[in-house]
Amino acid sequence: MQDLNIDIAALFESRESERFSLHTRRLNEQMVRVLRTIGYDVGFCKGSGQYLYDRTGTRYLDLLSGFGVFAVGRNHSAIRSALKSVLDADLPNLVQMDVSTLAGILAERLLALVPHLDKVFFANSGAEATEAAIKFARAATGRPGIVFCNHAFHGLTYGALSLNGDDMFRNGFEPLLPDCVRIPFNDLVALEQALSARRIAAFIVEPIQGKGVILPSEEYLKGAEHLCRRYETLFVADEIQTGIGRTGKFLAGEHWGIEPDMVLLAKALSGGHVPVGAVLMRKGAYDKVFNRMDRAVVHGSTFGKNDLAMAAGIATLEVMKAERVTENAARTGERLLRELGALAGNYELLKHVRGKGLMIGVEFGSPSSLKLKASWNVLETASKGLFCQLITIPLFKQHKILTQVAGHGSHTVKLLPPLIINDEDCDWIVRAFDDVIADSHKAGAVWSLGKTLVEHAMRASA
Ligand SMILES: Cc1ncc(COP(=O)(O)O)c(C=O)c1O
Repeated sequence: MQDLNIDIAALFESRESERFSLHTRRLNEQMVRVLRTIGYDVGFCKGSGQYLYDRTGTRYLDLLSGFGVFAVGRNHSAIRSALKSVLDADLPNLVQMDVSTLAGILAERLLALVPHLDKVFFANSGAEATEAAIKFARAATGRPGIVFCNHAFHGLTYGALSLNGDDMFRNGFEPLLPDCVRIPFNDLVALEQALSARRIAAFIVEPIQGKGVILPSEEYLKGAEHLCRRYETLFVADEIQTGIGRTGKFLAGEHWGIEPDMVLLAKALSGGHVPVGAVLMRKGAYDKVFNRMDRAVVHGSTFGKNDLAMAAGIATLEVMKAERVTENAARTGERLLRELGALAGNYELLKHVRGKGLMIGVEFGSPSSLKLKASWNVLETASKGLFCQLITIPLFKQHKILTQVAGHGSHTVKLLPPLIINDEDCDWIVRAFDDVIADSHKAGAVWSLGKTLVEHAMRASA
């Protein structure tokens, strides 16, 4: 029999020009409208490292990295060969009535990096890791409650959504999980109040909140850990975005010396190729779920621990170490924070630059001069946070930099680049921000873009 040759690259090439019409007809039409409105419909055709290339071959610097999955860059050759080696090896993947060797190795290596924890549960995504944390915490403590923070993001499945601190995501999907308590971030008094009735299984928190790039106060995470211990609540760090080197340490929690009872990982562990999630935890909690032979499969999912995902995780950790990727994130992050921060003195609309490593927020706010104030107010009235589009759109169109606004209604532009960016990329970023922010202080072209966006916002809400 002749081998069937399924050439996906050729298929992509032959139909990529139809991508928007395919999505309009068969997938999410609103996403197509968004991309067209803001002029992001350039048709990316190639990705390599920290760069993307559109169909004309123009190079873009990607400061979004697929929401944080491309820590080691797109299509890293070592990750690609590791995955090919799995495909070529005829491994006995997903036997189910066996245990996976590669999962054992990845678990061992992850725990070597987080030595105060003992066990790993593997899932297929960040949201699934959150779901697992909820179940393990309830089973381990016998308590129903989960405490989470305002602006928190832990995924969009039902359990994870019940811990979402932004009503935009929650509205329309209620009722959510009962016994979930929302408190302000950085507020230890509110945390103690929530924990003191001793009905809370877990407090789940992102060490740095992804939505808005909100940093903890110096004492917050350590204080939260103490309170959790006092009230016998599990302290769960969602490091799905902040982990695997993003902030210049393997886990962001290391900056504040915390030892959470559970650590959630996903995103970058995938090498940008194969979805994976992991919950690292203490043996005590783990053994409360898997406590008898007849409960050996009481939590799990069919594709959890599959060989490609495990290999992607193993390869990612090896690349991180060999290429000193975490160290690069610390160094380039510090440089960007310093140089972007220095711009704040020059521009009245630029309020604050904050972050750790390569998770950086550039925050804008109401100007003091009357002339700019009037324009700012028009935008704010039309749609809160719209001003940031006056930064992100020119960054994209004029400077070929892909960024995002840090959340709905946010005034913060977020930088989440691959952790392999170099000094030339840093120059590119600082130059582009300086230029675009300078333009946003002039009356001309940028504010006429604002007018167009206001018209769109009006139409959308009509
Ligand atoms: C902190 C955090 N937790 C959980 C998730 C959910 O991960 P996933 O999209 O893989 O379900 C995300 C995704 O953005 C995240 O940033």
